[in-house]
Amino acid sequence: MEHQIIKGFLLGTMIFFSACYYDNEATLYPPTECISTNMSYQNDILPIISNNCYVCHSAVSNTGNVTLEGYSELIKYVDSGQLMGAINRDPGFSPMPQDAPKLNDCNIEKIESWIAAGALNN
Ligand code: HEC
Repeated sequence: MEHQIIKGFLLGTMIFFSACYYDNEATLYPPTECISTNMSYQNDILPIISNNCYVCHSAVSNTGNVTLEGYSELIKYVDSGQLMGAINRDPGFSPMPQDAPKLNDCNIEKIESWIAAGALNN
């Protein structure tokens, strides 16, 4: 009987700690953690654009005659103000991504921070 209880306790402890171990940072520290400093085009911005926009704006899809694939294409829309206008859904711009929810705050913050730092091809 006593053994059963100790076994149960040990098992419970193991499950408890392994659950903690496998929880990743994102679930432990939900929305407060948005790292948006020192943004890199390659590592931070490109994944956001390719995941959310390439379905319509890759070089091949080119929807609305807008290609955002590659730095040299994307930078045109950065410089014209259309990228942030569309993403922030400012008046006078087409809201993007089209027919989908607005990008989350952290992704918008990352893009803004990258642009504020000069929108480098880094
Ligand atoms: C489902 C297709 C679709 C997706 C996904 C999409 N777009 Fe578009 N986008 C369009 C179409 C169609 C147009 C051209 C017609 C228009 O302006 O509404 C356009 C136009 C634009 C323009 C020019 C708009 C303007 O007002 O000058 C920009 C900038 C743009 N998209 C950026 C983005 C970005 C950034 C994303 C991802 C966050 C994105 N789009 C995702 C379909 C899409």
